[in-house]
Amino acid sequence: MIIDRTHRTWIVSSCVVVIATTAWYVVYAKNSPDGPSGGSPTGLALGILGTALMIACGLLSVRKRLSRWAIGTARGWLKAHIYLGLLSVPLILFHAGLRLGGPLEQVLMLVFALIIISGLIGVALQQYLPRVMKSTISAETAYDQIPSVCRSLRASADEAVSSVCGGLFETTSEPGAADSQNDLRQFYVRQVRPFLASTDGRGFAVGSASQAAALFAQIRVRLPENFHETLDQLSTICRERRHLVVQHRLHHWLHGWLLLHIPLSMTLLVLGLAHAIMSLYY
Ligand code: HEM
Repeated sequence: MIIDRTHRTWIVSSCVVVIATTAWYVVYAKNSPDGPSGGSPTGLALGILGTALMIACGLLSVRKRLSRWAIGTARGWLKAHIYLGLLSVPLILFHAGLRLGGPLEQVLMLVFALIIISGLIGVALQQYLPRVMKSTISAETAYDQIPSVCRSLRASADEAVSSVCGGLFETTSEPGAADSQNDLRQFYVRQVRPFLASTDGRGFAVGSASQAAALFAQIRVRLPENFHETLDQLSTICRERRHLVVQHRLHHWLHGWLLLHIPLSMTLLVLGLAHAIMSLYY
């Protein structure tokens, strides 16, 4: 969770700054006979302040990459990032005199809006997904450990099946118990192992809890009792793998939005520079 009581000071101060800036803008707009403009002294001041806040937001990246630059806590930086980023919105809108401007400015506004929207989506995901992850998954596994946990689940399943069937990929032609061994081996190699070996866990019958229950019930009635313990082990391993699939997907969402937010903020930097140069010199 990222939004909690410790945000109160930031929320209250941000509201005060928004009210003060709005009052400043109203007075300035009333006293501008030709209407507010980004090039007027007040318009420029608003633009410079808004840009300074955006640059301050971008410093979060620098802070993350430079571990030596250990000023403040990660949570403190994130709070500053969120509220300074949001405060840049009224400043930039007032700088633009609540207009969209020419084509370059329109693109700039669109990129800016997308950064703010993706940032808000990111906050919402970081706020709620960890809770969903905790409630749907019994033991949360760190994201980068997921592949190694998957490998060890597959190794345990291989071992469980091999211990009752011998080699995994050989077929036995002996009658009697060998039929059951072949049955279990084929079930494992065709239905279970591909799911355990897959990277995303999509498109497999045992990847769905209900289909897995039906398949395990079917094979259970065909196999003698001495194979049931192995089936139970496989069923538990499949359940754990399904949890990891969900966890992988949630992690993907939790971090995937940054793939939009970060490149957009780089684009904003370049377009913002172009806008400043064009407005000042042409
Ligand atoms: C012009 C404004 C903004 C710029 C230039 C900007 C830029 C960035 C950059 C470059 C990062 C990546 C940091 C990193 O991991 O290296 C980031 C992360 C993030 N931004 Fe923004 N951002 C802006 C506004 C916002 C706003 C308004 C919000 C929320 C309402 C927001 C929420 C976030 C969040 C939650 C992260 C993830 C931080 C983490 O998980 O450590 N951003 N932003």
